[in-house]
Amino acid sequence: MLLITGLTGCVSNDKTTISESAVKEAMTVSETTISSSITESDNKESVSSKHASETIDNTENASEKETARTLVIYFSATGTTKGVAEKIASVTGADLYEIVPKEPYTDADLNYNDSGTRATREQNDPNARPEFEPMELDIEDSYSTIFLGFPIWWGQEPRIMDTFVESYDFSDITVIPFCTSGSSGI
Ligand SMILES: Cc1cc2nc3c(=O)[nH]c(=O)nc-3n(C[C@H](O)[C@H](O)[C@H](O)COP(=O)(O)O)c2cc1C
Repeated sequence: MLLITGLTGCVSNDKTTISESAVKEAMTVSETTISSSITESDNKESVSSKHASETIDNTENASEKETARTLVIYFSATGTTKGVAEKIASVTGADLYEIVPKEPYTDADLNYNDSGTRATREQNDPNARPEFEPMELDIEDSYSTIFLGFPIWWGQEPRIMDTFVESYDFSDITVIPFCTSGSSGI
């Protein structure tokens, strides 16, 4: 899997804005610095990232694909990541797809003030692999670039994201992760 980890930002509601130039730049970047920002308008929180910790030029791989398309795929339990994903898809003209859990998360499942709730139990178990609904996508053959979005749960990606990334071969795909959170970084 090729990762570009510069396009990151963390917000806690759905009133988000994301720099269009940052998204476009993330798609074409090679050995350069990505600058991006996502701001939350309600509480004026603003997080920006100006460092691409790893950049890999995948242009060759992209051109070898029969179709060099871009996909924005995300998991979102309460809609914040969904809003950012929609914006990225709109800016890039990418396809948009949601990772839907087979067992939807209820409000009680997401209550992180209770250590016994489902999300917290899953995050405490590195081997937990919640299932997602079958994908109506040919990820490996159709896409050369994937924006991969998720909320931060207890400082990490939700375990369903592990289920997802372990289900496909991303070796010919440039993967650009992005997250939303209360304050934690990616
Ligand atoms: C179970 C759980 C754990 C969370 N843990 C963190 C955390 O460690 N750090 C943080 O900044 N936000 C944390 N949050 C807040 C979410 O990351 C934040 O609300 C996110 O934007 C939700 O995205 P979504 O609406 O797409 O699901 C947590 C939320 C939940 C439900």
